[in-house]
Amino acid sequence: MEQINEKNFNFYNRIGLDTFQALAKDGGFSTFVDLEIAYRYIQPTENIAEIGAGYGRCIDFLLAKKHQGKIIAVEQSPKLCEHLRAVYSSTIKIVEGDIYKVSFDHQIDAALWMWSGMIDFSVEEQAAVIKHIHELLTQKGKLFIDIPRIGIKTIADHIDQQRIKLTTDFGEIECYIPLSSEVKEYADAAGFTRVDEINYETATDKKRTMYILMK
Ligand SMILES: C[S@@+](CC[C@H](N)C(=O)[O-])C[C@H]1O[C@@H](n2cnc3c(N)ncnc32)[C@H](O)[C@@H]1O
Repeated sequence: MEQINEKNFNFYNRIGLDTFQALAKDGGFSTFVDLEIAYRYIQPTENIAEIGAGYGRCIDFLLAKKHQGKIIAVEQSPKLCEHLRAVYSSTIKIVEGDIYKVSFDHQIDAALWMWSGMIDFSVEEQAAVIKHIHELLTQKGKLFIDIPRIGIKTIADHIDQQRIKLTTDFGEIECYIPLSSEVKEYADAAGFTRVDEINYETATDKKRTMYILMK
């Protein structure tokens, strides 16, 4: 299996909160446009897990919505977890670890894999993580995946339409943007029965696609 997620670990562990938040602003994510779309499909009492919580952007959104269900934030970077625990651990559950290996006491209703989190994984890793998340979800559970629109230039270097690399002074990140057909194949192999696809633009006009995988 091609492994890129492990190679990308240092990028997020070294990024620094200010830089991470500045990237969210440049990408047009700090207005939560992506989350407003996803939240239309989520009931206020549903239990949600976020995959790769970063600096807490999705948690901020859910707390601002006064979300009543449980919120579990999974994050593998120890540095980011230190921050998440300091800011949020009185209100939500922070799980430090790799999404591949994480399990919860109870199944969850919705999993959020936002702001390109999925593309930090190789094609084989993406398929494996989607299978694992399927098992973590309740019978009517949903998985939300937000990625750059295929064929659109991002801030990174494009090796081809699907493989991109971002080089910064704190590290490098390699990404794989799946085609719509690949997302549907992953979903099918994992046992999801329906995939909705929503194209949208962020506050800074970045073209994105959100997939909603339903059991
Ligand atoms: C692009 S950021 C998205 C942050 C956040 N979800 C948001 O929308 O603002 C991806 C996050 O996933 C985390 N991550 C990457 N691989 C992971 C893994 N295998 N398990 C858990 N978290 C992971 C990274 O450390 C990073 O914080």
